[in-house]
Amino acid sequence: MVNRRGVLYSVGAVGAVAASAWAMTRRLEAEVERAATIVHDPVIAQMKSGMRLREFGRTGMTVSEVGFGSWAIGGEAYGQVSRQESLLALARAEELGCNFVDTAMVYGDAEQILGEFLSGRRSRWIVATKYSGQKPDLERTLEEQLTRLKTDYVDFYQIHWTPGRDEEHLYDALYRAKKAGKVRAVGVSLKNEQDIDRVLDHTQLDGFQVKLSLLDPYPFVARLGRLKASRPAVVIRSSLREGFLTGKFHKDTQFDDPNDQRSKLSREQIAQLVQDAERFRFLEAETGSMVVAAARYPLSFPEVSTVILGTKSVSQADSNFGKVPGSPLSTAALQQVFREQKALGLHPGRRLLTDYIRRIIQR
Ligand SMILES: NC(=O)c1ccc[n+]([C@@H]2O[C@H](COP(=O)([O-])OP(=O)(O)OC[C@H]3O[C@@H](n4cnc5c(N)ncnc54)[C@H](OP(=O)(O)O)[C@@H]3O)[C@@H](O)[C@H]2O)c1
Repeated sequence: MVNRRGVLYSVGAVGAVAASAWAMTRRLEAEVERAATIVHDPVIAQMKSGMRLREFGRTGMTVSEVGFGSWAIGGEAYGQVSRQESLLALARAEELGCNFVDTAMVYGDAEQILGEFLSGRRSRWIVATKYSGQKPDLERTLEEQLTRLKTDYVDFYQIHWTPGRDEEHLYDALYRAKKAGKVRAVGVSLKNEQDIDRVLDHTQLDGFQVKLSLLDPYPFVARLGRLKASRPAVVIRSSLREGFLTGKFHKDTQFDDPNDQRSKLSREQIAQLVQDAERFRFLEAETGSMVVAAARYPLSFPEVSTVILGTKSVSQADSNFGKVPGSPLSTAALQQVFREQKALGLHPGRRLLTDYIRRIIQR
C-alpha cells in the first residue's frame, strides 16, 4: 500500500515538473517570437547611393548596413577568384556606399588584396580583422596584419573565437592594443548563447560577430533582450548561407572546385539546403529577390549594426550593396519567417529551456 502511494506520488511529481517545464518552454518561445517579429527601423542616415548607415554599437563609428565579407576574395573558401575582379568588386561596393569590410589573416590572400585596395582610401573604410591564434602571439600577429593591410590601425579587431577562462590573457592583449591606438574597437567572433553572455559580461569589449540567417536564427534571437539593453556593435555573418539562400542552387548542383568549401557537402546535404531555402521563396513577393530577402532578415533587427555579405564579383557587389539596403521586412513577413523556421525545427523549445536553466544555475 505504502509503495503504491509512493509510486503515485512520484508519478504526480514528475507530471507536475513536466507540466511546468512545458509551460516555461511555451513562455520562452512566445518571448522569442515576439522579439523576433517586431519591426523598428534603426537607420540613422541614408547616403545618395541608397546605402543606409547605422551606429556601430557605442563606439562612435557609423557603418553601412551592408558590409563586405572578404573571405571569398581570398580564393580558398569559395573557389578561385581573380584578383582584378576582387579589386573591382571592392571599388563597386565603395561606389554604392559600403564602408565596412571584414577580413582575417586566415582568409587566403584577402588581407593583401585589401591592403592594395585601401591605399589612398583608408579613411573612407572601417576595417575589421581577426586574431586566429597565430604564433607567437596576438601582438606580433597584429603588427604583421597592419603591414599586410598597409595601415597603422584596425577599426575593429576580433578574436576569432570566444576565449575561455584559461585564456583571459587574450582579452588583456586586445585591451592593450586598443590603449596603444593600434585598434579602435575590440570584440570576438562567436558561436553560441553562452559566448554572447561572456562578451556582454566583458564590458570592455565593444562588440561581436555572429551568424544570423533565415536558416540560423540562433543564437542571436535568444539574446535579443540583453542586446537591446547593452547595445554592443553587432556584425552579422553568413546571412546568405554560403550562397544557398540566394535561391540560385538546385538539388543537383555540384561544387567541383576543391578550393570551394561547399565541395565537401554531400548530395543529400545540398538537396536538403536547397529544399529548406525554398521555404522562404515567398519573401520574393515583398523584396523582389531571395538575396535581398535573405540579407534584409538580419537587417530587420535594430540590434544589428552591419550584415557582411560575402562578395566575389562586381555583379554580386551590384546586388549586395545596390539592392539590399532598404526597409526591414514587414511584420507579416517576419511572422511567416518564424513559422517556417519553427516548421524546420529551428526554434527548439528544448534549447531555450536548457539555456534558461543554465542561466539560473550560473546566477
Ligand atoms: N568565424 C568567423 O569569424 C566567420 C565565419 C564565416 C564567415 N565570416 C565572415 O562573414 C563573411 C560572409 O559569410 P560567409 O562566407 O559565410 O558567406 P555568405 O555571405 O553567407 O555567402 C557568400 C557567398 O554567397 C555567394 N553570393 C554572394 N552574393 C551573391 C549574390 N548577390 N548572388 C548570388 N550569389 C552570391 C558567393 O559565392 P558563389 O558566387 O561562389 O556562390 C559568396 O561567396 C565572410 O566573407 C567573412 O568575412 C566569418
